Amino acid sequence: MKVTVKVPATSANLGPGFDCLGLALPIYNTITIEETVLPGTGIEINLISDNDITDEAIFNNVPKDENSIVYKAVEMLYNSIGQEPSELKINIHSQIPITRGLGSSASVVVGALLAANKLLGSPADTAALLSIATEIEGHPDNVAPAILGGFILSSQEDSGLILTEKLNWPEDWDITVCIPDFELSTNIARSVLPDSVPIQDAVYNAKHLAMFIQAINTKNIKLMKKALHDRLHQPYREKLIPGMKEIMDVFKNEDNVIGTVLSGAGPSILVISHKYDLDKIKSTVKDIWESLSIKSDIRTLKIENNGAEIIEE
Ligand code: HSE
Repeated sequence: MKVTVKVPATSANLGPGFDCLGLALPIYNTITIEETVLPGTGIEINLISDNDITDEAIFNNVPKDENSIVYKAVEMLYNSIGQEPSELKINIHSQIPITRGLGSSASVVVGALLAANKLLGSPADTAALLSIATEIEGHPDNVAPAILGGFILSSQEDSGLILTEKLNWPEDWDITVCIPDFELSTNIARSVLPDSVPIQDAVYNAKHLAMFIQAINTKNIKLMKKALHDRLHQPYREKLIPGMKEIMDVFKNEDNVIGTVLSGAGPSILVISHKYDLDKIKSTVKDIWESLSIKSDIRTLKIENNGAEIIEE
């Protein structure tokens, strides 16, 4: 039997929503798991690039053995029902650029879990799959929209329970995804974060996340412009991302640019705007990165409202 799952890219954090906000984007990985008949062949993982951004060296460095997150995800699912995985061929067609802050690791974890779950006769429900995926990723903000689609507020409670709430992104707020041609691993981007922050910074993010949710619910552009600020992760990551400060600053005084935020752990950047010249956003960001000898791929995308789905079985 063979199952193929299509999973969207995701962008997490959205400014003040560190580790708890995330939205799905229409760039996809497809993950196929096939039960092979040859005994003793173990788990074979193949990664095939369908995008021009991820270079070959990065691809070659992604683990494809038992250290792979895909392997871990499948193993955890099988173990949760008292079984061991074996004789599986896993093919990943990757359109989502790797190490760019667009949820590529969350997508392969989610895809592998959904496909393996189907092969096993669907013993795990969405909550159980979300829980395994969060354990592997460490936080639910990418895996939740990858599974559910749309714009999701998520939280892993102390009990381990994952809460998810769907939010409604205003249709006419444009999201321009700016992807530079350099990589930044989430591990490195998390290693620069402090273990604790000043109370003023914690309060700052609490206030801004509250404003964010109110702005989303009331489609209030002026409030959102105030809300899209962060003191928990972006200031620490700025030094890892050439051009980030310039890109964040350049649109500050443009009324119709609502805000500029890091996508996940970076290095991609989202520019959120309303009825603004999208070509101007693209050329401005492109020029800033080009002045630093950085190439970029910049696209304005709609939110993907569908989460991961089985497209072939
Ligand atoms: N919330 C995560 C972070 C997303 O910012 O580190 C990256 O996986």
